[in-house]
Amino acid sequence: MAKTVITYGTFDMFHIGHLKLLRRLSEMGDKVIVAVSTDEFNELKGKKTLIPYDQRAAIVEAIDCVDLVIPEESWEQKLSDVKRYQVDVFAIGEDWKGKFDFLEELCEVVYLPRTRNISTTELKRSLKRFLSISQDDLRKAFEVLELLRKDLE
Ligand code: CTP
Repeated sequence: MAKTVITYGTFDMFHIGHLKLLRRLSEMGDKVIVAVSTDEFNELKGKKTLIPYDQRAAIVEAIDCVDLVIPEESWEQKLSDVKRYQVDVFAIGEDWKGKFDFLEELCEVVYLPRTRNISTTELKRSLKRFLSISQDDLRKAFEVLELLRKDLE
């Protein structure tokens, strides 16, 4: 019988950690369902996303090993999703270890190791660093402006 695996997440600024997780899920079963957190649910979680839900969902849906994308709109939906989609395995990164053990009465619950040194939070930090002007560049810009001002005198 076909084995169904489900996972939940935001998948903002899709990165290699996300891809590796989805690939691992597809090795664990025949059908992979991904519940992508909606913008409203992220707001509730206190998470600010860069990419809107429709685009995050479309990107995850385009990954070859993903069979179905559904919206994640609440904390409570997991129990009903597991029943509705006849899920065999609930799998999620180990950052959630122990948090979803209550699903064990319905399916297998697996916490997977995260890919090291990458996360949406880290990408956002890098982007901030990338966009920030260094003190050195600022000083150079002022020097150029000062030369131009003198030229105009
Ligand atoms: N994940 C992973 N390895 C990473 C980053 C994420 O395996 N390096 C997994 C998470 O454990 C989760 C799924 O990918 O099961 C979706 O995680 P998500 O929270 O969307 O990604 P993060 O990069 O962890 O985002 P953030 O930094 O905003 O928490």
